[in-house]
Amino acid sequence: MARKLLVTGGCGFIGSNFISYWFSRYPKDSITNLDALTYAGHLSSTAHFADNKNYHFIKGSILNKRVVERAMKDVDIVVHFAAESHVDRSIKNPTLFLETNVLGTQVLLESALRNKIKRFHHISTDEVYGALEFNTGEKFSEETSYRPRSPYAASKAASDHLVQSYAHTFGLPTTITNCSNNFGPFQDPEKFIPRLITNCIEDRKVMLYGDGLNVRDWLHVEDHCRAIDLVITKGSINNTYCIGGQVDEVSNLEVATRVLNYFNKSTDQIAFVTDRLGHDRRYAVNWTKIRTELGWKPRYQFDEWLTATIKWYEENTAWWRPLKERAEKLYR
Ligand code: NAD
Ligand code: TYD
Repeated sequence: MARKLLVTGGCGFIGSNFISYWFSRYPKDSITNLDALTYAGHLSSTAHFADNKNYHFIKGSILNKRVVERAMKDVDIVVHFAAESHVDRSIKNPTLFLETNVLGTQVLLESALRNKIKRFHHISTDEVYGALEFNTGEKFSEETSYRPRSPYAASKAASDHLVQSYAHTFGLPTTITNCSNNFGPFQDPEKFIPRLITNCIEDRKVMLYGDGLNVRDWLHVEDHCRAIDLVITKGSINNTYCIGGQVDEVSNLEVATRVLNYFNKSTDQIAFVTDRLGHDRRYAVNWTKIRTELGWKPRYQFDEWLTATIKWYEENTAWWRPLKERAEKLYR
């Protein structure tokens, strides 16, 4: 039977990829996308499905109870992506992160409860678990204690706690995924990998914070979308699943070197700039639970996905060029 989904933040990076993915897999389902169109929300990221008769867009904030209540009508499944998502911005303006990520999530939870939603799926991050030391082999898992270290991570941790509290106290059927760093098409050029690629295309220097040795567990957005699908359709209710991608760890310096190699540029193009405040050293995720319970694993190796992503940015300059100036201004 066709289902009705409410996707929040569907004009952002992962949300827009998720809507494309879902329509390709479940064409009979209908999707309402509630997005406030902040600096991170782009209608251009939804152009390829905007004409689908099963797609509806509402421009509005998850903080607006009236708008949320309207969007929630007759919905079966909520997939909640909307958030302030950039750590560097959370250092500059933490309050906005608490408003959107914590209070916004609570508005959605209240409305989901009132409307007897069948599943509330909350998209979260591995950053709620804090940071790991180099060369310890340690990884985050569903059992790891929460130890957020940036205002962004703290706001996402609070939202996870709220979701769990609504499941426990009010019986709302929820699931949570805590995923590592994503990359792929339609990621805003403010973020690390698209900034690297677009700087190379524009013959600018590429910027590495500190010594460039920080490690992230990179996962392609399509692999993330497949994982969310499995958790929504087959995952156990009121459960959390960790999602990650890397087998071999790659530092930011290594990622930058591979992108520079693609463009036949030397590492002289790297500028080491002032480190981010409180910069987490290493993230790594143990995704055994989602692999063994739901049979998920990443589809391709990092290098294949990285090349595909570079090509996407080369072929889609019309999408990112209008965003580039604002993105670089953030760092001045
Ligand atoms: P993004 O910044 O690209 O997009 C966020 C979207 O939310 C934008 O379209 C924006 O307009 C919308 N939004 C912001 N405030 C809103 C509000 N008040 N009401 C309605 N819409 C609002 O973010 P993303 O990278 O696509 O991340 C999506 C989700 O995934 C976030 O919850 C983030 O914490 C989580 N996540 C991201 C990553 C990653 O690497 N990008 C990794 C793990 C988890
Ligand atoms: P980012 O994409 O902001 O994700 P997060 O901070 O949530 O992990 O950054 C990824 C990594 O890249 C992080 O270690 C910070 C670093 N970074 C740079 O070295 N240079 C840059 O220009 C940017 C944007 C990030």
